[in-house]
Amino acid sequence: SSYHIAIIVGSLRKESYNQKLATAIGKLAPSEFLFTHIRIDDLPLYNQDDDENQAPSVVRMKNEISQAEGILFVTPEYNRSIPGVLKNALDHGSRPHDKNVWAGKPAGILGVSTGSAGTAMAQQHLRNVLSYLDVPVLRQPEAYIQLRDGLFDENNTIGERSRPFMQNWMDHYVTWVKTYSP
Ligand code: FNR
Repeated sequence: SSYHIAIIVGSLRKESYNQKLATAIGKLAPSEFLFTHIRIDDLPLYNQDDDENQAPSVVRMKNEISQAEGILFVTPEYNRSIPGVLKNALDHGSRPHDKNVWAGKPAGILGVSTGSAGTAMAQQHLRNVLSYLDVPVLRQPEAYIQLRDGLFDENNTIGERSRPFMQNWMDHYVTWVKTYSP
């Protein structure tokens, strides 16, 4: 059987390192893991008035999440937290209150930043939100990644020096997802 993983990237930037990481990390997964990038750039700003009449882009995102066996968040850190675009997507998916699409979906969190803290504080904020949304998030290993030469190689895969670390992360993520969908 196959496992559909919804990838959500917290950066909308064309040359985003997190986008690059999201693509590269997928290549370390077994072939039954199928990754789909979920668009969040066309979601309106969340407005509770629209809960009973969600925009088509919101409905689409929620359908994609509901069909996935797992979620992978790959996000930068903005001002020591998660980017607003990611929080906006989380808020949309959480409503209406009894239709929280995130609940129960096993998830992993990755992030790369240019600073040495490697998105650690953003990831802690994200864990806090996901805990409330009833998302079981992989706890270990953690992956706080600083952008360094060689993180990606010329084929846009994970470079040789970072590969054992990232492969170990992916192996744990795969086990985590399978635990929830045997
Ligand atoms: C940043 N950056 C940043 N880095 C960090 O380590 N901690 C932080 O709190 C912040 N804050 C922050 C705020 C804003 C508004 C921007 C635009 C940037 C730097 C960030 O790590 C860098 O721009 C990354 O390249 C962003 O990720 P993407 O877009 O390359 O995926």
